[in-house]
Amino acid sequence: MELAEAIHKRKSIRAFKSDPVPKAILKEIVELALRAPSYDDTQPWELAVATGKKLEEIRQAFVEKAAAEEPNPDIPLVREFPQPYDTRRRVLGRKVLELKGISREDREKRLWWRLQGLRSFEAPCVIYIYIDRSFYQQGDALNLWPVFDCGLVAGNIMLLATSYGLGTVAQIQAVLYPDVLRKVLGIPDSKLIVLGIAIGYPNWDDPVNQLRSERAPLDSVSTWYGFD
Ligand SMILES: Cc1cc2nc3c(=O)[nH]c(=O)nc-3n(C[C@H](O)[C@H](O)[C@H](O)COP(=O)(O)O)c2cc1C
Repeated sequence: MELAEAIHKRKSIRAFKSDPVPKAILKEIVELALRAPSYDDTQPWELAVATGKKLEEIRQAFVEKAAAEEPNPDIPLVREFPQPYDTRRRVLGRKVLELKGISREDREKRLWWRLQGLRSFEAPCVIYIYIDRSFYQQGDALNLWPVFDCGLVAGNIMLLATSYGLGTVAQIQAVLYPDVLRKVLGIPDSKLIVLGIAIGYPNWDDPVNQLRSERAPLDSVSTWYGFD
């Protein structure tokens, strides 16, 4: 698949088939994705790839935690969404619920859908990306570049997955309870878990996968200099 086609085709997938993803394919995707550039070639990323019983253990623990505790991700959640960001996220939330046929008033179904997110939408595999705490927390200051570099790897993974006919969704939801991931996957305290990427074959019969998110027009987000 051409790169431009993969970029065009990639979109967040929130319903997966149960078919497993062959380990050989996952390895090809991850190995190539790690060709991503990084600040001073620091390559600050580390990955944990979970499937099967291990992933199910994580899903169940996440659902139990959600009933008892507030999320506590290693990279803090966004506190405020100024405009235009707030409108954009509300539009997304509304469209997803509409496609799932869940009304705003239906608290039970909304809770079910939130738990589906915590279960990574039943994807057969999740790739967790993490970094070293000592590189991110530098005294009183935060070094944000390792998180940025992880984003480059995540982007590569999602595009490569698309070219293999796989679907993905980047998920803060998958890392909301990092202590669960530390325990089940044996990730030490010295690591900060940045993001999970749910990956699997898309269930195209589920209407939620029809969602095509909008983008602000090029002219509204770019200014061009010295071209005339
Ligand atoms: C850092 C990051 C975290 C995200 N976390 C979630 C998440 O927890 N749950 C979810 O359903 N989608 C999540 N997304 C997916 C975004 O909602 C999605 O990328 C955005 O709506 C644009 O849609 P598209 O990916 O289909 O182009 C996340 C995306 C990124 C980049």
